[in-house]
Amino acid sequence: MDPSPSNYTQANRIQRRDADQLLEEYSKIIRWRNNGTETVLDIGCGPGDITIDFILPRIPKPFGKLVGVDILEKMIKHAKRLYERDNVHFQILDIENGDIDLFLKDYPEGFDHITSLYCLQWVRDQKKGMKNIYNLLKPGGDCLFTLPVKHAVYNIYDELAKIPRWNALMSSNCDFFASFINQDNVAEAMSEIFKLTGFRYYNVEIIDKRITYTGLDNILGFITAVNPIFANMETMEKTEYLKDYLKIAAELNVYREAENPSESEFGTPYQLAVAYAVK
Ligand SMILES: C[S@@+](CC[C@H](N)C(=O)[O-])C[C@H]1O[C@@H](n2cnc3c(N)ncnc32)[C@H](O)[C@@H]1O
Repeated sequence: MDPSPSNYTQANRIQRRDADQLLEEYSKIIRWRNNGTETVLDIGCGPGDITIDFILPRIPKPFGKLVGVDILEKMIKHAKRLYERDNVHFQILDIENGDIDLFLKDYPEGFDHITSLYCLQWVRDQKKGMKNIYNLLKPGGDCLFTLPVKHAVYNIYDELAKIPRWNALMSSNCDFFASFINQDNVAEAMSEIFKLTGFRYYNVEIIDKRITYTGLDNILGFITAVNPIFANMETMEKTEYLKDYLKIAAELNVYREAENPSESEFGTPYQLAVAYAVK
């Protein structure tokens, strides 16, 4: 995944809606310490708008620090430029392969709370990513994750992988996503990882949702913003890829092309895993 921060913020309506609903519910469950110094880490913060609009307002004030991290430098540059302030910071960190000990030099006590919204599906080695998250938490600290685990886009990638040209760029969802993505046993698989990592409490919920994008521009914005291979293609290749993508989406009854492109629709049910765990 490599969209520009502004492309992503134009296409993240679904993430914003889910983050707002989820944080409203879970801010009552998060074990706030209310000690005026608590620290929150948001992993995979992207352009930072969700960190600022939905996480920051729910932290009891005063607080210690809110830190957003992301693997992509351009996301962090964008977030720093728009949102950095006294106790809100943004830094580059790869939660799967990054140097966690080095990162912790700036935060030697670790964090009281960790959030990660719409990011962990990108972590292929879940055991390693979760161990890193565990090491970033203070004892007694808690974390809240949400990730789309079933979604039409994963089915479309499976079909695109049957076309040799696109198979060369992405042979299966496992090339880019956690192995439990689009499988039936997600809650069990995630629970097992929490258990192996050593979390003393964990709960994984699978929630059914639906989203419809209307208008070809919005549809293409969404498709390209969350795509693992699109950003690296040449212009010509992009056009052909999108043609194949929409053809498959139509065959799967996800996409309906209208005579007037502004009335075309891309609609799909999807499942979100919501996990809460305590160290
Ligand atoms: C779909 S965006 C979600 C952004 C924001 N949290 C939201 O809810 O809109 C996923 C973000 O995770 C980041 N990401 C992917 N793999 C990561 C990793 N290993 N470590 C840190 N961030 C990662 C991506 O760069 C991207 O900005």
